[in-house]
Amino acid sequence: MWKPDRNSKKALYEQIADHLEQRISYGEFPPGSLLPSERKLAEQLGVNRSTVVLAFAELRSLGIIESRTGSGTRVSTSKWEATPKHTPNWSRFAEGGSFLPNPPFMRRIREALIQQPDLIDFASGELAADLAPTIELAQLMKEHKYTSYLGYDNPQGSTLLRQELVDYLQRYRGIRTTESSILITSGSQQSLYLITQCLLSPGDAVAVEDPSYCYSLPMFQSAGLRLFRLPVDEHGIQPDDVRSLYKKHRIKMVFLNPNFHNPTGTVLCEERRQQLRDVTSELGLPIVEDDPFSLTAYDGLPPKPLKALDDIGSILYIGSFSKIAASGLRIGWMVAPNSIVSRLADARQQMDFGLSIIPQQVAGQFIGSHYFEPHLDRLRMELRFKRDLLIEALEKELPGQIHYKVPDGGLHLWCKLFKKMNDSKLLEESIKRGVVFVPGSVYGSDSDFVRFTFARPKTEDIGRGISLFSEAYRELNG
Ligand SMILES: Cc1ncc(COP(=O)(O)O)c(C=O)c1O
Repeated sequence: MWKPDRNSKKALYEQIADHLEQRISYGEFPPGSLLPSERKLAEQLGVNRSTVVLAFAELRSLGIIESRTGSGTRVSTSKWEATPKHTPNWSRFAEGGSFLPNPPFMRRIREALIQQPDLIDFASGELAADLAPTIELAQLMKEHKYTSYLGYDNPQGSTLLRQELVDYLQRYRGIRTTESSILITSGSQQSLYLITQCLLSPGDAVAVEDPSYCYSLPMFQSAGLRLFRLPVDEHGIQPDDVRSLYKKHRIKMVFLNPNFHNPTGTVLCEERRQQLRDVTSELGLPIVEDDPFSLTAYDGLPPKPLKALDDIGSILYIGSFSKIAASGLRIGWMVAPNSIVSRLADARQQMDFGLSIIPQQVAGQFIGSHYFEPHLDRLRMELRFKRDLLIEALEKELPGQIHYKVPDGGLHLWCKLFKKMNDSKLLEESIKRGVVFVPGSVYGSDSDFVRFTFARPKTEDIGRGISLFSEAYRELNG
């Protein structure tokens, strides 16, 4: 006898409704036939009667069964006889699977940007169109003929790009590695996905910074991981917090974004880097170092990655093309021990048979070309300029009402508003006026924080965008 699964993520009443629907569609209960009473069914299935009541209500709302006072619950004749073809219950399917939906604020922002393409966009964490090396990439595509084989590529990613990355990582990041230790991914997001899905198991505890980009990703919860927080102050996380979380929760991995951290812009200071190395090597704890922003350092002196001093192989280093060139190329990389690279390449092959070859070739040619260095110089200069424009606008529009630390790299400004407010209302009022930002709660912070990405809006829109935001802010502050 079938019984609902009490360990399933799906509610008991939904399981029962699905089960009954299936029995009806298999003809076990023909159209017009009487279903067992709620009480009897509850007894048979070992659940409360109220659970069966809910299951019946669900089936009634779908037109699958009908109830009449005094004559019990019957299989609907109109649904099952008049229409012999039945549309699958797609809404049930859409709620199925193991992927959780994105947080409501992220969905709202995405929807607003689709509906109002002229919104001034301080929300999307990427470069404006004119900061991408579009002309250089087009030129490279013209110069190089794509004569290479266009079949399924090496599961680890293009050999050319991995060769270029060996030089790039040594030159720009001080990381000595080999082609066989690099996995090309479709961005840091895919690296994080592969790590959470393939190297960790449901129930595992992991530590992430607080606030953190990771909180905006339901990916961690979908993988069944338990997240514990490492508060970030102006010098980054406290290594002793890693030790405490290990003692209390046996964390299995630490996810860090130590260079121009998203959203705060913080750089983990040298002293804490040393302490962190001591703590994690003592505990045998792996670190995932997510490092997409380093090369945006406005003074041209990017902080060294933790990976550069990783002499015991405890760091999975992930990088990306998204924040320094073009997010739409979808190119990222991971440097990891060979066993991990092979495992993740094998898993990724099951997902998609590998990445598209063309963006990998373009990215490889670009980082190895004479265009790369001047592009970085221009990018840093423009980013610093846009950061200053944003700060100037905030000082003009909201003097004394907002606090921030001026970042030395990255794409974002993390701000604390002096008045606590309903961030949902602030977002809606801002969208109404034509501007969008990310509320701090998306990153796990309180509702008085906001993140402005200055890299994304057009230079000429930054001042106007902040003026519109401050109108929304004042509206809510009376
Ligand atoms: C800290 C951090 N990691 C990873 C990503 C994912 O970037 P991508 O997949 O485009 O490389 C982002 C994007 O905003 C980010 O801010």
